[in-house]
Amino acid sequence: MKINVGVFFGGRSVEHEVSIISALQAAKAFDRTKYDVTPVYISREGRFYIGEAVGRIEEYSNIPALIKKSTEVLPAADNGRLKLLRQPAKLFGNPVLSVIDVAFPVVHGTNVEDGALQGYFRTLGVPFAGCDVFASAAGMDKFAMKALFRERGLPVLPCLRFTSRDLSEGCENAADKIIAELGLPVVVKPVNLGSSVGIRLAKDRDALIDALDYAVGFASAVLAEKAVENLREINCAVLGDFDSVSASECEEPIMGDEILSYEDKYISGGKGSKGGSKGMQSLKRLLPAPISPELREKIRHYACEAFLALDCSGVSRIDFLMDSKTEEVWVNEINTIPGSLAFYLWEATGKPYAQLLDDMVSLALKRSRSAAELSYSIDTGILKNFIGGGGSKGSKGGKL
Ligand SMILES: Nc1ncnc2c1ncn2[C@@H]1O[C@H](COP(=O)(O)OP(=O)(O)O)[C@@H](O)[C@H]1O
Ligand SMILES: [Mg+2]
Repeated sequence: MKINVGVFFGGRSVEHEVSIISALQAAKAFDRTKYDVTPVYISREGRFYIGEAVGRIEEYSNIPALIKKSTEVLPAADNGRLKLLRQPAKLFGNPVLSVIDVAFPVVHGTNVEDGALQGYFRTLGVPFAGCDVFASAAGMDKFAMKALFRERGLPVLPCLRFTSRDLSEGCENAADKIIAELGLPVVVKPVNLGSSVGIRLAKDRDALIDALDYAVGFASAVLAEKAVENLREINCAVLGDFDSVSASECEEPIMGDEILSYEDKYISGGKGSKGGSKGMQSLKRLLPAPISPELREKIRHYACEAFLALDCSGVSRIDFLMDSKTEEVWVNEINTIPGSLAFYLWEATGKPYAQLLDDMVSLALKRSRSAAELSYSIDTGILKNFIGGGGSKGSKGGKL
C-alpha cells in the first residue's frame, strides 16, 4: 500500500508565493512507487483546496480562476490519519475526498511555518513532516532562536529587541540606546519575517530611526543587531532529529547589494534560471562554498548544534554570517522549512531529492510512533467527582 502524503502550502503569509514554488517542486519529486501525493493549497484566506489545477504551477498566475476550478475541503481527524471532507458538504455522495497518512507542510512564514499549521496537525493527530510545534515557533522568532543558540554556546551577534509599544512614541530613544550599546552600523529586522522583508542596514542615526520605523510596520517586534562587516554568508542544511543528525554541503549565496534581498533570493535568478520560477534553488550561489576544509567542518558542526538547540526535526537550513577578513562566524538564523527544502544542498552530497523526502516522511512516522507511546491521559476521576460532588449545580462544590 502506498503512503498518501498531503503536501500543504500557501497560507496567510507574505511568503505565500515562494511556498507555492517550493511545494510543487517537492510534490513532483516524491518517489511515486512508494507515495501518492495530494497537493493541498491553503489560500490567503486560510481555506483549503485540492484538485488537478492545484498541482499545476501555471494555474497560480490567476488564483481566483484556480480556486473556481478546485474543490474546497475541510481537514478532519480520522484515527491518526487526516480525511479531507468536501466543503460545503453535498446532500448525497461520499464527503471524504482523500485520506492522508502523512501531512507534509511546505509553507514559509508567519501563520503557517511558525507552528500554527504544525499545531493544527498535532491537534488533529496526523503525523507531519518537519519540525514539531515548539521548534517551528522558536525558529520563526529571531530573538527566541538566538537565546537558544546562545544557551548552547553558539556564537550569535549581540542584539536588542523592541516591541511596537516601545516604539509607539517614536524611534529616537530606541535609536540612542542601540547606538550606545551596539554602535553603528546595525541591521534592523522584523523579529519574525523571512525573505529579507522589512530589513535595512543603518549607518547613521537618521537611517536607524527610519529603519526602526520601517521594520515595525511589518511585525509587532523588531531586532537591532550589530552589522557584520566584510560580509560573506554561508548556509548549511541539517537532516535528522534529536537521535541523529547529518549536515549537508555548504553554499555561499551571492548578494547583489549589502544585504541579501528578496530580489536576490527569488527574482534576479541564477545562471540558466528563468525569473523566480525556481525559488531558492535559483539564487546565485557558490556550491560548494569556497571555504577551507576546517571552516567547512566548523560550520557543519555549528549547524548540527543549532538544529539540536531548537530540537528540530526533518530538514532545516542554518544560515551563517562571516567577516571575511577575520573568518569569524555567527549563527544568523535557522529556517525550519527552507526554500526548496534545501534539496540542492543534499544533491551536492549525493542524496537525491526523492531520498530526502523519503527520509523526512520516515522521521515524521518515527515521531508519531514515539508520541503514541507517551501517556496522554491519566484517570484522575476529576470529572466524575466534579459531577458527583454537585459541580453541575452551579458553583457549589464545583470550583476548580
Ligand atoms: N547582522 C547582520 N550584519 C550584516 N548583514 C546582515 C545581518 N543580518 C542580516 N543581514 C543581511 O540581511 C539578510 C536577511 O537577514 P536575515 O536575518 O537572514 O532575515 P531573513 O529571515 O529575512 O532571511 C541576510 O541574508 C544578510 O544579507
Ligand atoms: Mg535569512
